[in-house]
Amino acid sequence: MKQRAIERRARHDAGVVYTPATLARLLAEVSLAALHQAGIPKDRTILQIVDPACGEGALLQAASDELKRVGSPAESVHFTGYDIDPVAIHRAGSLVGNSSDVGAQLQVADALDRAAIANQQFDLVLSNPPYVSIRRLTQQASREKIDAYKRDYQSACGCFDLYVLFVERCLELVKPGGICGLLVPSRIAAMKYATACRRLVLEQTLVEVIDLSKLMMFRGAKVYPCILVIRRAPAPSEHRVRVTHIEDRADLSQRVLTLVPQSRFSTERWSLSCERFSLLEQHGDVQKLGNIATIVSGASGFTAAAMRPFVKSRNNVAAEEKGSYLPFLVSGQIDRYQLDHARGRFQNVYYDEPVLDVTQARLTLKKRELYRSQKLVVSGMSQQLEVALDEVGCALAVQVFAIWKSALDLRYLLAILNSSLMHAIFIERYAAKRLAADYFSINLAQLAELPIVVPRSDDRTAMGKYQRLILLAERRLSCDLEASRSLKQQIEHAIDEAVFELYGISSADQEVVRRGSPQASSSLDRQLRAA
Ligand SMILES: C[S@@+](CC[C@H](N)C(=O)[O-])C[C@H]1O[C@@H](n2cnc3c(N)ncnc32)[C@H](O)[C@@H]1O
Repeated sequence: MKQRAIERRARHDAGVVYTPATLARLLAEVSLAALHQAGIPKDRTILQIVDPACGEGALLQAASDELKRVGSPAESVHFTGYDIDPVAIHRAGSLVGNSSDVGAQLQVADALDRAAIANQQFDLVLSNPPYVSIRRLTQQASREKIDAYKRDYQSACGCFDLYVLFVERCLELVKPGGICGLLVPSRIAAMKYATACRRLVLEQTLVEVIDLSKLMMFRGAKVYPCILVIRRAPAPSEHRVRVTHIEDRADLSQRVLTLVPQSRFSTERWSLSCERFSLLEQHGDVQKLGNIATIVSGASGFTAAAMRPFVKSRNNVAAEEKGSYLPFLVSGQIDRYQLDHARGRFQNVYYDEPVLDVTQARLTLKKRELYRSQKLVVSGMSQQLEVALDEVGCALAVQVFAIWKSALDLRYLLAILNSSLMHAIFIERYAAKRLAADYFSINLAQLAELPIVVPRSDDRTAMGKYQRLILLAERRLSCDLEASRSLKQQIEHAIDEAVFELYGISSADQEVVRRGSPQASSSLDRQLRAA
């Protein structure tokens, strides 16, 4: 029993998680449909299908079943499967090889080694590649191997994950005009390391994206996958990508479809939702938050463990030491508009009024200046954007971000960032990075991209709206922890309305945002898609 658990763990670490049958069927179905739409095979008598990391053959088997269901377009079909694992290849042999009249070639090979699979191209490439982060890869593969990946693969950039190399390799293995059906983590849409990979995909025709990020499809693996169907051919101008969402694990045929121009998919980031608010940036007075203020990580250069010896409960600080300590904020103490200084958990230890010794040598002057300054503080892990104003000057833990040195009044930014509109924009853009229990792990790059209306000083109406938001933020800030919920809600409602007006949001879109407010956030995506 224990042995099996160890084996499972080792397989998981190596990115070996076989595709469940329902998902394999879906991938085969949409990929073969795209192949037919692409007119393949026209004059081909043999249809060639490969899975370059086939494991026990789930995808090849699903393709074989689907071809039987819809009728094969070719006189014969030839299946090829490669894998580095001889045991998996053996099992795939008994599954696919014996299954029917189809021809199958199953071979132990490293698909990333171009010499091992040379001069071969296929009509259809299906793959659920291994997902292995660079951290795990460094433990598993030699330095030379990783250097070779970096040298040989354009997509091996930054802190890459092995699956991006497979995307690149699959695109090479498909014949011009052919189809790649890939099951990859939906973070391919958002991660910086995947920029080069997104560029390679966008050089071809992105036929379909199926967002499965709401479903936990893989047992034991915390991965939210998506399906990409890519045709190896440059996208015609005006090409629209079919973006579909599946929410019901029990019924994968229930899909909500939107057609999104491929030109809207940038290499910087893909939104897997329908980008209701993507046009905001084209509004002349909108700038990215990162251009308006400095956004920094609360404790960059520090690990939580290195900070720990310098954290205490306020009561434990001797009177003569008091000047060396500042209140210390951890992510959980930051709520919208307010800070709860009373109790904080840091590194699994609870502190009453946690404080940090800011005289410690490792703290740079810049950090000390940041801590003592007035700033906005943002919780790095929450279910919605939670931003508060730090007026007293607090030291910050890891997973807390600070917004300071702003060209605009911090209270103005505070109101906008805590508004329902910003929550909707955040969900729309970064749903791909959602963690368990609908928590978001927020990062600097995401914050820096948020669109902020910058009023022109010679525009009296715009300046009036600016001042009004500052006033409303002040009213909300004056509510202490004990203030009634309804009073807070009333002010926040007024802030939401003022933000809608500021951004010129149509009444239909306002309705969508209201229904999707954090309290009913799951309905937001549904509404966005239904609209
Ligand atoms: C996520 S599993 C998917 C297997 C199968 N395609 C499926 O959908 O069930 C990834 C597979 O990739 C294989 N693999 C890992 N690195 C490989 C490489 N360099 N070349 C070929 N296969 C590889 C693993 O052994 C594993 O079977």
